[in-house]
Amino acid sequence: MEKIVIEGGTPLRGEVEISGAKNAALAIIPAAILSQDVCVIENLPVSISDVNVMMKILNHLGAQVTLINKNSIRIDSRHVNSYVISHDMTKHLRASYYFIGALLGRYGRAKVAMPGGCYLGARPIDQHIKGFELLGANVSIEENAIVDAKSDGLTGAPVYLDVVSVGATVNVLLAAVKAKGLTIIENAAKEPHIVDLANFLNSMGADVRGAGTDVIKVRGVERLHGCTYSIIPDQIEAGTYMVAAAATHGDVMIKNVIPKHLESISTKLVECGVTVEEYDDAVRVALDTRPGKCNIKTMPHPGFPTDMQPQMAVLLALANGTSLISESIWSNRFRYAEQLNRMGASIKVDGQLAVVEGVEQLKGAPVKADDLRAGAAMLIAGLAAKGVTEVEDILHIDRGYEDVVAKFSALGANIKRIYTPEPDALTNVG
Ligand code: UD1
Repeated sequence: MEKIVIEGGTPLRGEVEISGAKNAALAIIPAAILSQDVCVIENLPVSISDVNVMMKILNHLGAQVTLINKNSIRIDSRHVNSYVISHDMTKHLRASYYFIGALLGRYGRAKVAMPGGCYLGARPIDQHIKGFELLGANVSIEENAIVDAKSDGLTGAPVYLDVVSVGATVNVLLAAVKAKGLTIIENAAKEPHIVDLANFLNSMGADVRGAGTDVIKVRGVERLHGCTYSIIPDQIEAGTYMVAAAATHGDVMIKNVIPKHLESISTKLVECGVTVEEYDDAVRVALDTRPGKCNIKTMPHPGFPTDMQPQMAVLLALANGTSLISESIWSNRFRYAEQLNRMGASIKVDGQLAVVEGVEQLKGAPVKADDLRAGAAMLIAGLAAKGVTEVEDILHIDRGYEDVVAKFSALGANIKRIYTPEPDALTNVG
């Protein structure tokens, strides 16, 4: 078993380089098979496990994936020869379902097992299916939870999404780029990674307009060609380091970011008394007093991102005063509260609302990462706390944070990854 062990209490200082956006990468990798050609993807967070799984799925479908350097890969989709993906591969992450849209777009056929991913509450895919059906696909879910989608040629259509869904917007986009005629996605998600996917598709010769607004128009094209594309910086990774800098009373220059994407996070930090200075492609975050309280309500972009909610809760747990956090996207995103309370926080959860009464100090404790962003919150709490924190179940953290231990160490944190053999393994020794 691997753990991350942190001796907290050191203010983070220095510079950190943000990696490419995980959620953009997870949409762009499957999108590459829409071209029967070669794509080079740069600024890709290659070492995170979610990206690794997506590359393995590409390989399984017959694409050739070659590592060019630490953060660039070459995807040759000319010999893709399958439209079937089993549960063994899809169970690791939610975004595996983007292969349904991409394979439908390429072949008019996809047989993909239902996806796994963080447990944040019910995660239905009705809007994805509705979108595929409106484009003319026949979609059934087989008994063994395989989504079987077929069509004799997709046709563009108006698709109104009943809920603002990142996943459904991506999947309908992927299916629509080579459909005949015009698709209009209304009530589309506006996250930066939707814009990045649209830019990638357009670099391959697609005709996608309006990404970043709630109406996206896609005029189908017959063929897409290869391209070289560099992924945007990760908004949530950047936000995580911003909160970590503030929670440890540090002073950190966070580089390779798009400050505009961080506005909802910066605004809340400033409200808590944190200094946030914006540069062209960097933000400096510093705090030398106790943070102030603030209230947060998670919303689709450009609102405060749900994926920053657990990390921000750590800062509020240390704030002077009581803050309210209202979660409006996921029904089960407060599991981390129990772990933070073990470290001395005072968080009471009632349904979708958390009341966070700030305390002066957190104390180190053994905790676990319940999911990816809850894991990030545990790291921040451990860095800010007095004493030693051991974070278990770090495979969740590995899904989305590139070189996290090295990056925090370079900022002066006392943090390491340790391997302890499972008790079973110990009894088998000698
Ligand atoms: C994506 C992100 C995830 C983030 C979430 C919200 C990726 C790989 N993951 O997840 O990190 O927390 O956006 O910003 O990009 N819904 C339906 N029916 C559907 C689809 C969604 O009711 O068919 C609901 C969901 O239950 C949820 C809301 O819509 O309440 C938003 O979900 P969605 O935006 O689809 O999230 P994901 O794409 O799964």
